[in-house]
Amino acid sequence: MSSSVQNSTRSALFTRSFRKSFPSAVRGEGAYLWDESGKRYLDFSGSAAVNFIGHGVAEIAAAMSAQARRLEFVHSSQFVTSVAEEYAEELLRFAGPNFQGGCVYFTGGGSESVETALKLARQYQVEIGQSKRHQIISRGQSYHGSTLGALSVSGNKRRREMYLPMVREFAHVAFPYCYRCAFDCKDGCRNCGQEYAAELERAIEASNGQAAAFICEPVSGATLGAVVPPPGYLRTVAEVCGRHGVLLIADEVMTGMGRTGRNFAVEHWEVAPDILVTAKGLSSGYAPLGAVIANKKVADAIAGGSGAFLHGFTYNSHPISLAAGRAVLAVLQREKLVQAADSATPGSVAAALSTALEKLKSRDAVGDVRGIGLLWGVEFVADTATKKPFPAELNFAGRVGQSAMKRGLLVYPMQGCVDGILGDHGLIAPPAVITREQIDWAVEQLKGAIEEARKA
Ligand SMILES: Cc1ncc(COP(=O)(O)O)c(C=O)c1O
Repeated sequence: MSSSVQNSTRSALFTRSFRKSFPSAVRGEGAYLWDESGKRYLDFSGSAAVNFIGHGVAEIAAAMSAQARRLEFVHSSQFVTSVAEEYAEELLRFAGPNFQGGCVYFTGGGSESVETALKLARQYQVEIGQSKRHQIISRGQSYHGSTLGALSVSGNKRRREMYLPMVREFAHVAFPYCYRCAFDCKDGCRNCGQEYAAELERAIEASNGQAAAFICEPVSGATLGAVVPPPGYLRTVAEVCGRHGVLLIADEVMTGMGRTGRNFAVEHWEVAPDILVTAKGLSSGYAPLGAVIANKKVADAIAGGSGAFLHGFTYNSHPISLAAGRAVLAVLQREKLVQAADSATPGSVAAALSTALEKLKSRDAVGDVRGIGLLWGVEFVADTATKKPFPAELNFAGRVGQSAMKRGLLVYPMQGCVDGILGDHGLIAPPAVITREQIDWAVEQLKGAIEEARKA
């Protein structure tokens, strides 16, 4: 077939899949999206855990357009802008007392922010005279982004496999996953966190003084599906990192900016990372935006050392993205959306979500329902008694996702939670403006979608 014939039947857009057709989205409002046929979708996953303040908030568009009319762009090697400086101060305050005196580095998204954090950790070590330290330890089942540096510290097998010959490998350690706990705990995983933290300590020791940082998602995002760590784990991890001179990088691209019912998820366990990485909810999807928040120790090492971070993107601190992010932060605070996302607060919308999702537990094919705040995972299994996963080629999660979409419900299906290949789950991460009625409707549709996938 000639390429011109091929091209005549194919969209010019390089989409996520050439085998699938995607509806064309035209509008969003609150928790809903519409496609060009007029079909309405309830956004039960915030796209991919992105939207937090709801779709179609006019004041965000107004803030972006005002900024674009005044000044669309300057290069960060030549100028700063007031929007960047003021927003950085606001974000430092939002990140809490541990980041007082720190600095915020703005990027265009999650992967860029992770790349930035990895290089910042390396430069920090060089600045303080630890130039041997260059390794970044991460965990096996994780996702930190799609650029090669971020992929090298990610553990998500499916997303890495093809690119493995191109990435530099450092140690990956296990992460507590209570539903399938490697220690077979009988105490609800009250103590195994220490065992996982001990594994990290052994990996740091095995690096022979070359470990620069440990990066982890405080609550697992897409790869495991909202797995919440057992008590004590993150505190011990922070303590181990501190004792060994290894920076702790918390990747809160998915969990930051209120998603789990705290400004940042680490606050649930009173952990103070050296570097916080965030994106997604930072702009709620209104513009490409990510941020790396460095504590005072890290910022001081560069400021008082060589004086310049050897890193940069053309679109660092893009004024229009920052205007969007700043306006999102204002809405998030004014509307008390972090409180709405706190599943431990009775009466919150997150508590309603948790209660509604719990009801899925008794159903065939649902092995586990886990999560915190407005970030939940539903793990699908072939046998609930033995936790046996479905065969990977069945793509059970994908089937549930497809069937849900047909019904006008958006969830985020993933595979690989068991061992990187096997295991199916759906991620639920709605905007914080979702209502109880919408949640109840969504859970009914999800039940129907699971049933349909089971019968297929
Ligand atoms: C924890 C985590 N880190 C990094 C990334 C990469 O972010 P982005 O897709 O914005 O580059 C993601 C994306 O899903 C993520 O969930």
